[in-house]
Amino acid sequence: MDRVLVTGGAGFIGSHLVDRLIQDNEVVVLDDLSAGLEENMQQHQGNERFRFIKGSITREKDLRVALDGITTVFHFAAQPDVRLSAERPIWDFEINVRGSLELLEAMRKNDVQRMVFASSGGTVYGETDVFPTPEVTAFRPISNYGAAKGAFEMYLNSYAELYGIDSVSMRFANVIGPRSTHGVMHDFYLKLKRNPKHLEVLGDGTQDKAYIYISDTVEAALVLAENIGKGHFPVNVSSGERLTVTRIAELVCQELGVPDAQIVYAGGKRGWIGDVVRTDISITKLASFGWAPRVPLEKGVKLYLRWLIKKFGSVK
Ligand SMILES: NC(=O)c1ccc[n+]([C@@H]2O[C@H](COP(=O)([O-])OP(=O)(O)OC[C@H]3O[C@@H](n4cnc5c(N)ncnc54)[C@H](O)[C@@H]3O)[C@@H](O)[C@H]2O)c1
Repeated sequence: MDRVLVTGGAGFIGSHLVDRLIQDNEVVVLDDLSAGLEENMQQHQGNERFRFIKGSITREKDLRVALDGITTVFHFAAQPDVRLSAERPIWDFEINVRGSLELLEAMRKNDVQRMVFASSGGTVYGETDVFPTPEVTAFRPISNYGAAKGAFEMYLNSYAELYGIDSVSMRFANVIGPRSTHGVMHDFYLKLKRNPKHLEVLGDGTQDKAYIYISDTVEAALVLAENIGKGHFPVNVSSGERLTVTRIAELVCQELGVPDAQIVYAGGKRGWIGDVVRTDISITKLASFGWAPRVPLEKGVKLYLRWLIKKFGSVK
């Protein structure tokens, strides 16, 4: 049995990863609860394989405690908001680059040699014109968040060469599922809860993006963790399916029982500053490890919406 650390383990993706990892490992979670919830980990209270440390990846002392006896770090803590990264670039850098580097440096000092990093497939490639986008494609981020993810991947490369810390960067598509409290489907749900007759869509609705359901994401993390080789290895993680924003709006209205809600477009190509309007990442590399998605994308959207209704109530 291994002892693994999940940073950001109280958050959406991290907490699902913890649920799965704890079946075969001791799991330590380091999370400052800036966005994560203790409720996402309550099922493990009293489990002697589980330890929660409330602390930050930006603080060396917290990292030293968290890394004690760890073989593999799953680094999922982040400031995940693209829009906020445009408003507060230095703050975004402090968490997503400097905090991540503090973690990597603490791993070096504490002789921890493997990391699985939650990177981002949409935002590091940014305004690429190569579709489906393979991992060798040059970074062209159009958000500070994407620049930060790309910058930290560069450090993973140098730390592999210099100090032998091996890593895989999971370049995620948009991840959806229970416990997620951000993203387009969550936004639409909130808007329809405020007014079930009217749904404002940011942009012109043609934004066309890759998504993946949470359980498939977690399985990909396990497969990649088992296959960490020498060096730094980036891998795109997506279902291989995409949805336009207009299609999402239709699905949301149907599933929430308001099929006649009027969909109104705010206009413009992008939904917000830094919004990548097309993500279509190649999953050939991930599939080469024997991974395949199990949840068809539109079914994943429905499962997520049903969870939102159960948790926060119907919109009607
Ligand atoms: N959700 C997606 O679609 C998506 C897509 C691409 C990449 N990612 C990446 O995956 C990871 C998980 O994303 P998520 O959607 O679960 O977000 P989330 O906000 O639910 O989880 C992030 C967690 O990190 C914690 N955190 C933030 N700053 C911290 C700090 N300084 N120290 C310790 N903990 C801190 C938060 O409290 C939260 O629990 C992030 O790195 C994110 O950038 C997510």
